[in-house]
Amino acid sequence: MSRVGVELRGATVADAPALAGVHVRAWREGYAGLVDPALIAAATVARRERQWARWLGTAPPWPIVTVVAVAAGGALAGFCSVATPARDLDDPRTAEIAALYVDPPRWGEGVGSALLAAALDGLRAERWPAVTLWVIEGNARAERVYVRAGFRPDGARRRDLGVAPPGVELPWQRRLRVDL
Ligand SMILES: CC(C)(COP(=O)(O)OP(=O)(O)OC[C@H]1O[C@@H](n2cnc3c(N)ncnc32)[C@H](O)[C@@H]1OP(=O)(O)O)[C@@H](O)C(=O)NCCC(=O)NCCS
Repeated sequence: MSRVGVELRGATVADAPALAGVHVRAWREGYAGLVDPALIAAATVARRERQWARWLGTAPPWPIVTVVAVAAGGALAGFCSVATPARDLDDPRTAEIAALYVDPPRWGEGVGSALLAAALDGLRAERWPAVTLWVIEGNARAERVYVRAGFRPDGARRRDLGVAPPGVELPWQRRLRVDL
């Protein structure tokens, strides 16, 4: 059990339903006002569960490892996915934090920071020299967590949040980076 009362372990396909629940609740709470509501509505628990079952059950196109934070009663409090190498860079030596989500009732307890610290420790142990991630512009809560862990903007921007329904306006994201 970590300092913040959660246990960190690798995700398995059996976690797909719980991962989907956390993923959707964190999108709804965290992205309201930042992301087109149609995009939030399109990301249903059923769709996310199918995605997670696929991602965890089959070899992904990139090596992506997901670590989950499990609370004392067994509930999934959050997760962090790491892609090695980063999916959007033509750089075999830079890793990527592909996802960091915590169940909204558990925000502010240090779970997100603990997941991120464990991911960075793991990458350091594997001798990855740098890590990037994308954050939606205006997502101040997430940026504070990343900046505390050493991430800074590297100047890159994009509009991309996966597959969007037709007519949906995608938000700007900026890339953050930390050298390990
Ligand atoms: C961003 C996110 C992952 C952060 O998770 P979290 O578990 O709330 O993060 P932490 O608890 O580690 O840090 C949040 C705040 O709690 C504070 N905190 C951390 N540990 C604490 C503790 N033990 N006691 C009290 N406060 C604490 C932190 O200092 C931080 O304060 P700040 O917002 O003033 O900087 C979460 O809010 C989330 O899922 N958001 C929606 C999805 C999202 O934006 N993901 C990132 C995509 S790029």
